[in-house]
Amino acid sequence: MSSETTIAVDVADEKAELLEVSESLDSETKDLVTVLPSGDVLDTLSSIPENTVTATILDPWYNKGVGGYREDYHDWLEGVIASAAKISKHIFVWGFPEIVAHQLTRMPAGFKLMAWLTWYYKNCPSVIRGWRSAQNTCLHIAAEEAKIYPENFLNPAQLERFKSGKMRFVPGPPAVLEAPLNIGFVGKDEQTGHPAQKPVSVIEPLILMTTRCGDVVLDPMCGSGTTGEACINLNRKGILCDESEEWLEISRKRIQREPSRCESGQTLSLLDP
Ligand SMILES: C[S@@+](CC[C@H](N)C(=O)[O-])C[C@H]1O[C@@H](n2cnc3c(N)ncnc32)[C@H](O)[C@@H]1O
Repeated sequence: MSSETTIAVDVADEKAELLEVSESLDSETKDLVTVLPSGDVLDTLSSIPENTVTATILDPWYNKGVGGYREDYHDWLEGVIASAAKISKHIFVWGFPEIVAHQLTRMPAGFKLMAWLTWYYKNCPSVIRGWRSAQNTCLHIAAEEAKIYPENFLNPAQLERFKSGKMRFVPGPPAVLEAPLNIGFVGKDEQTGHPAQKPVSVIEPLILMTTRCGDVVLDPMCGSGTTGEACINLNRKGILCDESEEWLEISRKRIQREPSRCESGQTLSLLDP
């Protein structure tokens, strides 16, 4: 066996071990979020057993601007989504609208577009001549049988009515998420130095809509670990990976705190569905 093969096998073993640990995690331990050793998204997705993840968040580079351009981007992303479809029933795909739109006609078999979500921000500092960027898209792709939990967005009073069967319909959250870019003095406490870091407030709704407490959320291109932070806030098990050790180190530091407990408020309903 060549040394390159040995290293690949070692990393695969380490990943398998970490995944086993993450499966047995008690959702109240501070190890709620597992950070895998760095790796390519396709390797990470293929190392995870089928149907073990509830929601996968895919936030790759965007094929313009930071991260550069690749000729085969649409085919590559289609392959990533197809791999994610083997392990989870919900998939979120972030990107610029004109780029992720190409995936609408490339859905994996048995999956459909559940929602076209827009993240709207007003504070992009771009100085280009013309329209200033103010939106990102997040495609919510789901298996036909996938469950959603709009009741997770109810306030305590609404939740009481929901539980006692007095609510005629469950009002869903808006499909437009408004949050400023974390730049300059905005979101100073949240900023990690990652050039494409998402605000936690645009990741949490994705998790709330598709998971219950203790469910598993995977982010194989996690950057600075925003999904990990959201998992800790909402008491979900998170699995994070990225091709860059530099960003994974930031993610590891970021998740060093106790998770919230699913005791009250918007996430309580998830304990007794
Ligand atoms: C848009 S950023 C993710 C930002 C993240 N959501 C956050 O809030 O910090 C894209 C990330 O994907 C990672 N990435 C790009 N291509 C990858 C690949 N083929 N495999 C694994 N990670 C990759 C990059 O290293 C980068 O950190």
